[in-house]
Amino acid sequence: MNIFIAFALATASVKGASLDIGSHPAFLTGRIINGIEASKGEAPYIVSLKSFSHFCAGSIIDENWVLTAGHCLFYSNFQIIAGLHSRNNESDVQIRNVTSKSQYIVHEGFDGGVGPNDIGLIHIPNGFNLTALTRDAVAAVGKVSLPSGKYNNTGKGRLYGWGRDNSGTLPNELQTLDVNIINYTECKAALPFSAPIENVNICSYNAGTADGACNGDSGGPLVHYNKEGIELVGIVSWGYTPCTTSQYPSVYTSVGAYYKWIAEKIGLM
Ligand SMILES: *[C@@H]1O[C@H](CO)[C@@H](O)[C@H](O)[C@H]1NC(C)=O
Ligand SMILES: *[C@@H]1O[C@H](CO)[C@@H](O)[C@H](O)[C@H]1NC(C)=O
Ligand SMILES: *[C@@H]1O[C@H](CO)[C@@H](O)[C@H](O)[C@H]1NC(C)=O
Ligand SMILES: *[C@@H]1O[C@H](CO)[C@@H](O)[C@H](O)[C@H]1NC(C)=O
Ligand SMILES: *[C@@H]1O[C@H](CO)[C@@H](O)[C@H](O)[C@H]1NC(C)=O
Repeated sequence: MNIFIAFALATASVKGASLDIGSHPAFLTGRIINGIEASKGEAPYIVSLKSFSHFCAGSIIDENWVLTAGHCLFYSNFQIIAGLHSRNNESDVQIRNVTSKSQYIVHEGFDGGVGPNDIGLIHIPNGFNLTALTRDAVAAVGKVSLPSGKYNNTGKGRLYGWGRDNSGTLPNELQTLDVNIINYTECKAALPFSAPIENVNICSYNAGTADGACNGDSGGPLVHYNKEGIELVGIVSWGYTPCTTSQYPSVYTSVGAYYKWIAEKIGLM
């Protein structure tokens, strides 16, 4: 039985999440399957969104802005933890509190369910310190570039997250996984006919494996390494469960498809 879900851990307000009959997509609320522990400081732009505990991830794109999935944004109060590696060690982290829904923007076209426009921005008035050093003299908090526009949505990518791992629990340390990125056309062909995928999505797919995102990874980064550096190309959105056995692609919001929306909201244009 395959179920599609959004990969956030808290799905209280999410329509269409936690469907448990038939073969349906769902938000990925919890884990990377078949990942390995990331090196400390490898992804200085990833943040953990924490309420009672970690529920989603996001990426710092600017000292005052975090990009995440729309379905991750429903609490009025939560914390953004940057510079985190082990969830149980917050000794060198930078924490910013979100205290009102007016501090974030969910895409106007997102309907709350599994589908397109699953993107949102969180404004951090007292921005992150992107030049602060950790005790071991490594910059612990950084930002990631948006796609330059040259990227064609194929090739090798890397996924990061604290979502559920193969054991079904949230790992303590940040996990990473190398994946093949496929574009909308290829992904649509690899998913069940009824999958609610649109041309603003891209996917990761290691054919014949369950590799991919899972619950708790929602909102987190899929990055592409190229000559110019690292680009944030995808935001974990949804996939099929059970994550450990489903061999369907994981679905992401294509950051490139929303470049204009992001730029308008953060005032670059
Ligand atoms: C927590 O992290 C800090 C720096 O990042 C490190 O110096 C310390 O040893 C860690 N503590 C534990 C218990 O691992
Ligand atoms: C942020 O929230 C945490 C937990 O609710 C609280 O302990 C902390 O004092 C807050 N920090 C600020 C700067 O408001
Ligand atoms: C950021 O961190 C650097 C290095 O630790 C420090 O010199 C600077 O004052 C910090 N900036 C702010 C605004 O806190
Ligand atoms: C995408 O770009 C890469 C690198 O520039 C290239 O090798 C590849 O053939 C391109 N793929 C498609 C489908 O255009
Ligand atoms: C999608 O990727 C496939 C395989 O790399 C390529 O043949 C196709 O042209 C791409 N489609 C688009 C719309 O970029």
